[in-house]
Amino acid sequence: ADHSTASSDLPLQVNYSIYSPVQGWSGTAADNQALQAPYGSWVAAMRANLINIPADAQVGIRYQVNLSGTGWLDPAEDGAEAGNASAEAPLEAICMELYGASAASYDLYYKVYQNGTWTDWALNGAVAGTEGAGLRIDGIRAAITAKDAGAPQAAMNAVDPSRPMIALTFDDGPQPSVGNRIMDCLAQYGGKATFFMVGERVGSYKTEVQRMVAEGHEVANHTMNHKYLQKLGAAQIQAQVNNGNDAIQAACGVRPTLLRLPGGNHNAAVLANAGMPMIQWNVDTLDWKTRNADKTVAAVLNHVKDGDIILMHELYGATGDAVARIVPELHKRGFQMVTVSQMAAAKGRSLEAGKLYSSFH
Ligand code: NI
Repeated sequence: ADHSTASSDLPLQVNYSIYSPVQGWSGTAADNQALQAPYGSWVAAMRANLINIPADAQVGIRYQVNLSGTGWLDPAEDGAEAGNASAEAPLEAICMELYGASAASYDLYYKVYQNGTWTDWALNGAVAGTEGAGLRIDGIRAAITAKDAGAPQAAMNAVDPSRPMIALTFDDGPQPSVGNRIMDCLAQYGGKATFFMVGERVGSYKTEVQRMVAEGHEVANHTMNHKYLQKLGAAQIQAQVNNGNDAIQAACGVRPTLLRLPGGNHNAAVLANAGMPMIQWNVDTLDWKTRNADKTVAAVLNHVKDGDIILMHELYGATGDAVARIVPELHKRGFQMVTVSQMAAAKGRSLEAGKLYSSFH
């Protein structure tokens, strides 16, 4: 392993990716982010490496997998593949450990998604997952903490309820040319967004949708075909919602818990049949109409306050330009950029199916 160049004040972290027969290699998950194979698929191979290695530290990561039908394979290290991507048999169990003179300064925690649930954390070389029982691994999560600091919290980037926060939301995607720019920018400033996606689009852009999950953004439903639901009957409303959830889950392994209505349009039948919390907005940038970055920037920065839900659209280059200016300024003003679900939780609001929410003031 090359330990000579990386140097950072950031804490040592593990990054990782998984191979599933349906999707191939996933995007890279950041430390403590859950990474799952698409619904119905499984993990056939994995890779892991360390980032933010202190300049004076000697540390690497080694991991070993139990492959269905084969048993424990030889260990792999520092980004090498463990498993067998070409054979596509599932992993049944894994173990991971840090090595090198500095390894004793850290704890490495990891867990697997197996048989419909996440296992407890395994620590420093212990086995995670059950081998020899016909169970396959469908997801992996790993995190590094300082030695004896205790198990990682439920999610990194925890929201501070005492500080102001806003939810940036992007509709009508996925659209990689804009969405990836948005995520690049948010990654720089530690922000998260909510992407309300059209189900019929996600199959074409799975890599982008998987990146959203890997980087902690919220994947959410904007119906299967962007139909105005107030014009539909009960069964069609339900189908638009359920098919949208199915499509997103198939692409990234995560089933959305939030719905945004196309146009925000609703009537009694929509409220009765949506079956999910419906997220409206209180700051409308009209970015789809103006396609003008200056106007979109002004619409956000001239009005923004704690608890806002801001509506933008992922389809337009001008929106990507605007985000590149909005995010640094919001960061400078002290706003936390959080997902809709994070904001609701931080404000102590429960989200109920059949109800509309337009802000969390
Ligand atoms: Ni829309």
